[in-house]
Amino acid sequence: MDRLFVKNAQWIMAKKIVDGHDGILSVANEMENIPFDIKRVYYIYNLINHRNVERGRHAHKSLEQVMFCINGQCNVLLDDGMSAQEIVLDQPTKGIYLGANLWHVMREFNSNCILLVFASDFYNELDYIRNYDDFVASVVEKGNMVNVISA
Ligand code: TYD
Repeated sequence: MDRLFVKNAQWIMAKKIVDGHDGILSVANEMENIPFDIKRVYYIYNLINHRNVERGRHAHKSLEQVMFCINGQCNVLLDDGMSAQEIVLDQPTKGIYLGANLWHVMREFNSNCILLVFASDFYNELDYIRNYDDFVASVVEKGNMVNVISA
């Protein structure tokens, strides 16, 4: 498992139940695998232009999410404003926690990729930071605020 060095991200493992029946059953429980109260679930699929498309390309001010790739695979670029790394999501039970203030870009999908996302709150466009420069500025501002408080 790749070591995560960006802030506000962590690997999340869902439970995998192989019980002798055909197929595998996987479970993610609130506060056990998912580190927040789940208010919303959404999924991304039907990536027809999968080779060229990028999704995400934003950060959230307060929303927390856990993303699983339950079919196929994609890459996710994670950027905390100070450092960045690209990870691969290619296992249905290996998800990524996307905390607030984490720029993320999903890309290099294969055509059968399906992303399943658990979110800590309902959709709110005001919680999005969609401009990268604004994101970096917000990280710098928050960093300064922490310094002021701890001084
Ligand atoms: P967005 O979050 O930008 O998608 P992605 O990060 O995958 O590129 O959302 C795309 C559009 O869908 C945007 O117009 C907002 C809308 N949307 C909702 O209405 N509800 C939701 O729960 C989500 C996630 C998006």
